[in-house]
Amino acid sequence: KSITIDYSYLKSFISGEDVNNEIKDNRKVIEDIIKGKADNENVLGWIDVDKHAGEELIQRIEKTAKNIRETSDAFLLIGVGGSNQGARAAIKAFDKEQKPEIIYTGNTLSPIYMNKVLKDIEEKSVYANIIAKNFATLEPGISFRMIRNKMESMYGRDDAAKRIIATGSPNGSSLENLSNEKGYEFYDFPEDIGGRYSVITAVGLLPMAVAGIDIREVVRGAKDMAKSIKTLPLEENPAVVYPAIRNILYKKGYSVEVLAHFEPLFEYFTKWWVQLFGESEGKDNKGIFPAACSFSEDLHSLGQYIQDGKKNLFETFLNLEDQMESCPISEDESTIDYFDYLDGKDFSELNKVAFDATIKAHSEGGIPAMVFNIPKLTPYYFGQLFYLFEYSCYISGVLLGVNPFDQPGVEAYKNEMFASLKKEKEEIAV
Ligand code: PA5
Repeated sequence: KSITIDYSYLKSFISGEDVNNEIKDNRKVIEDIIKGKADNENVLGWIDVDKHAGEELIQRIEKTAKNIRETSDAFLLIGVGGSNQGARAAIKAFDKEQKPEIIYTGNTLSPIYMNKVLKDIEEKSVYANIIAKNFATLEPGISFRMIRNKMESMYGRDDAAKRIIATGSPNGSSLENLSNEKGYEFYDFPEDIGGRYSVITAVGLLPMAVAGIDIREVVRGAKDMAKSIKTLPLEENPAVVYPAIRNILYKKGYSVEVLAHFEPLFEYFTKWWVQLFGESEGKDNKGIFPAACSFSEDLHSLGQYIQDGKKNLFETFLNLEDQMESCPISEDESTIDYFDYLDGKDFSELNKVAFDATIKAHSEGGIPAMVFNIPKLTPYYFGQLFYLFEYSCYISGVLLGVNPFDQPGVEAYKNEMFASLKKEKEEIAV
């Protein structure tokens, strides 16, 4: 089974014919992308999943992860943006055992947080994975120095090196040189993939495997989605229909998209999605602002704005068809709480009713809404989702007329920081 898109709720905003016309108007450019005839060869390494997630790499990752799982209490994932979000999305959804504990660092400069991490690992058997394509990014770079120094003081230089894995650009990057000098195990951050498209490579797969996630299932899901995208007619292809709808809505003045769900385990997945679309499309004074909502909680906060506020946003729902677990409502005859009308029901039923009610109320209240139906919450479907959204983002960026693979806007704050901190030009690592 595959993830499908349902846009029947959009009918009072845009018709099936509008969607088909949008696809027709862009047919050549979309077909070129799908047939692999488009430019951007140097950033499309993720399209062929086997290229950077093949059997040999999977076996190597499984071996590294097994060793870490057997001998560690905590695993530090040091990275930011595309270097940590994909793995974190899956780990937060599937890491039930939480052994080893996965600790995220390199994504904040908070002294409180850094001190806490350094203290938390003191009595533990710790491994660390520094992930950085360009090892000049300040947050992961300096956090790694703190962790490295701490681990060297805990274990000595040689034993610390056995507990550190680096994932960085190959062919002489500064992180590779540092790894060689120290003796760290080194994984390639593929040169032909940018951070936010890197989840199905060693970047995302190694931390997932350490958390006990079946990475073969993630890869299988991504590959099945890749196959569907290559073979489905454009009008039935979710990676084409979704960007076409976004583009139509954008041209009609809808400039905010809310990715919403009723399963909190999707929370970090939506953060990954926000980063993917925000950094890929927000440029040249264009782009849809991506936001995320976790319902029911956010029905009692942003839900008010969505229902009654400015009508410049649309909603995309992640609908989990099989909620995986049952939780029957317990009866209570001895107490009057006015909830007896729910007797005999199950939380999964209530959650489904909340979803149906929300999409009806929002779309009837003037919010265009569409749905991705996700059969189950499993690593396999996460693989499908990662690939589907990466591909959709690629097509969406092209339809919008921006380069979905660069992020020039991120440099502005970095340059200001480097100027304040008096970083010399020659110290810029590659
Ligand atoms: O998607 C991207 O390219 C960015 O979000 C990067 O992943 C992020 O800036 C981290 O970069 P690096 O891995 O080079 O430290």
